[in-house]
Amino acid sequence: MAGGLGSRLYPCTLVTNKHLLPVYDKPMIYYPIETLVRAGCKDILIVSGSALGEIAKLIGNGHEFGLESVLYAYQDKADGISGALRLAKSFVGKEKFIVILGDNILFDDISSYVEQFINEPDKSCKLFIKEIENPTSFGVAEIRNDRIVRIIEKPKIPVSNYAVIGLYMYDYHVFDLIKDLKPSKRGELEITDVNMIYVNQNRVSHAILQSKWIDAGSVKSLLEASNLIAQMSENKTI
Ligand code: DAU
Repeated sequence: MAGGLGSRLYPCTLVTNKHLLPVYDKPMIYYPIETLVRAGCKDILIVSGSALGEIAKLIGNGHEFGLESVLYAYQDKADGISGALRLAKSFVGKEKFIVILGDNILFDDISSYVEQFINEPDKSCKLFIKEIENPTSFGVAEIRNDRIVRIIEKPKIPVSNYAVIGLYMYDYHVFDLIKDLKPSKRGELEITDVNMIYVNQNRVSHAILQSKWIDAGSVKSLLEASNLIAQMSENKTI
């Protein structure tokens, strides 16, 4: 997902798209694509708004990344992550699939989780958690007896340190749920609302990530991401 306004990065994103900004030595969008490729994905769909042409120019047919195909979908207004997801219906068909947010940088190899999710017939959604000090800018999960019982989007007082990161696995029934979503207070179709439907139906599994994770969508975290990757490439751990 590479749409949205990127308003937390204004003025840097006034005339360009957040996902094209550099994170150390590569455009931001390379990182989530590489996460998908490492997990064995061969076909991806990129959703974006007015920058879709530039993104297509950059990513092309995806062969350079080891992909077999890249399709592109145009989101005509930034109406939220679920709004963007809606556009993937015909791409997905009847498969289970992965959604990754274009500003999420992960260092875990998620291949084993893909395998797990494929083999969980009673689960329609898999969520990923990272324990962090202050999760107030994210969806925050309340976990009891190893089960997610609630997710609150950007709570002022978080119930836990468990941030729900921008990596989601679903089956194709998710498109029926999106149809009935109502915009949130910030006027967006929230991915947390979709995930809460699955939580209430007990059809969610989750995994807690061990390696670093960064949502590079703010000024501070963008810098943090660049610094971390610079350090890792100097130490040859990336
Ligand atoms: O990074 C993880 C967090 O991402 C989660 O913890 C939150 O639950 C989830 O709501 C989301 O929060 P953000 O406030 O960080 O979302 P943001 O508006 O920054 O959008 C994240 C990505 O989704 C962005 O890089 C591009 C894509 N997006 C977003 C919107 C609003 C779209 O493709 N279209 C959109 O309309």
